[in-house]
Amino acid sequence: MILVENLVKRYGAFTAVDGVSLEVAPGEIHGFLGPNGAGKTTTIRIIAGLLKPTSGRVVINGHDLATSAEAAKASLGFIPDRPFIYEKLTAGEFLRFHAGLYGMDGDGIGHRVAEVLGLFELTRWEGELVESFSHGMKQRLVMCAAFLHRPRAVLVDEPMVGLDPRGARLIKQVFRHMSARGVAILMSTHTLEVAEEMCDSISIIQKGRIIARGTVDDLRRLSGSADEELTPVFLKLTGGAGLQEIDEDL
Ligand SMILES: Nc1ncnc2c1ncn2[C@@H]1O[C@H](COP(=O)(O)OP(=O)(O)O)[C@@H](O)[C@H]1O
Ligand SMILES: [Mg+2]
Repeated sequence: MILVENLVKRYGAFTAVDGVSLEVAPGEIHGFLGPNGAGKTTTIRIIAGLLKPTSGRVVINGHDLATSAEAAKASLGFIPDRPFIYEKLTAGEFLRFHAGLYGMDGDGIGHRVAEVLGLFELTRWEGELVESFSHGMKQRLVMCAAFLHRPRAVLVDEPMVGLDPRGARLIKQVFRHMSARGVAILMSTHTLEVAEEMCDSISIIQKGRIIARGTVDDLRRLSGSADEELTPVFLKLTGGAGLQEIDEDL
C-alpha cells in the first residue's frame, strides 16, 4: 500500500510537484501518466526516500517515511528510469549483492535468486557478466533486484522505455503476477498506450498537479486512438463524466 498526501517539491521559485496525493491499494497497478517534465520522476524519487519533499507525507505499507524510513524502504522495491548496475558482476552476483543490501541472509537467498531470474527469463544468464547484456536484459535484471526481497509495494519509473516487444510483454506478465499476490505497483509513463494496457487505474499529472484520475475503462471510453497526443486527452478527461474531476482550489 502506497499513500501520498499533498506532496510538494520546490526548487527555488519553481514548483516541480504541487500538492500530489495518491493511493495505491494492495494488488493494484496504478499508472502515473503525464508528459515529460510533469513531475513524475520527482514524485517517485520522493516516495522512494531519495529526495526530501518540501512538504507532504508518504506512508508505505503503514510506515511513515518521515518517522520510519528504514521500515518503509525495506518494504519497497524501486525500479528507477536510469538504473545503475555494476557491469563487472554476473547477474547472480549482482542479485546476491542486492540481497545483502536488504539484509537478506541464509540459505533462502540462492533459491529466491533462482526464482526471480526464472520469472524474468534470465535463468540461463545467471553466470554471465552484466556488461554483455542487452538493454532489455539489464532492465529485467534490475526488476529481479526490485522484487527480490518480496516488497509489498513497488515503484517503477517509465518501465517500457527502450524495451523490445517481447521484454514489454514479459514485464506486463510479471507485474500482473505480482499484483495478483497483493503487491501495490505505482508505475509512471508518458504514454497513454502503456497506461491503458498495464494499469487498473490512472492518475494524470500535468505541471506538478493531478488533473484527473479514474479507472482504465473510464480512460478508454474517453480517448479514441491509443496514439493520440496526450494534451487533447487531458482536455477530454478533465471534462469527462466518468472521471473524478480534481478541483483546482483543493
Ligand atoms: N534538481 C532539480 N532542480 C530544478 N528543477 C528540477 C530538478 N529536478 C527536476 N526538475 C524539474 O522539475 C520538473 C519535473 O521533472 P521530472 O519529475 O523529472 O518530470 P517527469 O519525470 O514527469 O518527466 C521538470 O521541469 C524538471 O526540469
Ligand atoms: Mg521522468
